[in-house]
Amino acid sequence: PTPIIIDCDPGHDDAIAILLALAHPEQLEIRGITTVGGNQILDKITDNALKVLSFVNADIPVAKGAVGPLLGKLVTGAEAHGESGMDGPALPASKFKPVDQGAVEFMLDIIRSSEEKITLVPMAPLTNIALLITAYPEVKERIEKISLMGGGLAYGNVTVTAEFNIYVDPEAARIVYESGIPIVMSGLDVTDQAAIFEDEILELKRRGPVSVMVGELLDFYSIYGKKMGYVGNALHDPCAVAWLLHPELFESQHLYVTVETEGKLTRGMTVADRRKKPDRAANTEVLLGIDREAFMKLLFDSLDRLDGE
Ligand code: BDR
Ligand code: CA
Repeated sequence: PTPIIIDCDPGHDDAIAILLALAHPEQLEIRGITTVGGNQILDKITDNALKVLSFVNADIPVAKGAVGPLLGKLVTGAEAHGESGMDGPALPASKFKPVDQGAVEFMLDIIRSSEEKITLVPMAPLTNIALLITAYPEVKERIEKISLMGGGLAYGNVTVTAEFNIYVDPEAARIVYESGIPIVMSGLDVTDQAAIFEDEILELKRRGPVSVMVGELLDFYSIYGKKMGYVGNALHDPCAVAWLLHPELFESQHLYVTVETEGKLTRGMTVADRRKKPDRAANTEVLLGIDREAFMKLLFDSLDRLDGE
């Protein structure tokens, strides 16, 4: 299996992404999970990660990372994700605790001690990853690739041009995009196509306990989606995991992408060079299309697996 570290801020869609990865141990070996302030403050989202793991009895080490962005103050996604950061299902208290190490040292140890290169799967502001590769640039060579959820070439969701994970910490995102580590970008271009609809959520709630829990997460998550004018609920973060499992479900383009940190209208925008003759070599595989039906089947089957069916 591919050794991965998931960096997250659960977050409804983060929780679903973690479950998706957990369902495929023959393909993905989750060496650890790191958390970062994003959808809610660090303590809340870390507790959410631990609760999700407890719910499916997965004793995977969780390390707490940055409370907020490299510069400025944390802007949370509380409007979409609620007071707890993962409102909806009444999950039992966690059986697990975070490790004593901070996220950066935790990732560093895993990467250094691993025989194989590690794949990072960030689905939150990129603060932890930027801190890691800035403090220990030598680890870049030991990172196989970064499959991340963040950005969008066509539009944003916090501002006209910026997607939440990039918007919260544009400086960190820029460091990561310009790091030279190969990136696979699940941005809004593809994640908005990876939407789950009401009838599918109802179906989840007729299945086993893990599927039901995901259905309840999505019930809450869809409230804000509806308010913002969406019919389906974009499963943003699961795309970054689904690509690792089944890259053939996606259409993509290799492009040079970086992040605008200064523009008045464009701070936090992922900017791609789509010219016929770009100035620089591509650093990112940008996912632009998905076979939604096949992705849904993957999700349902994965949750069934966790439900033991
Ligand atoms: C991203 O922002 C968060 O609210 C979600 O968890 C996802 O990572 C989507 O813009
Ligand atoms: Ca997230």
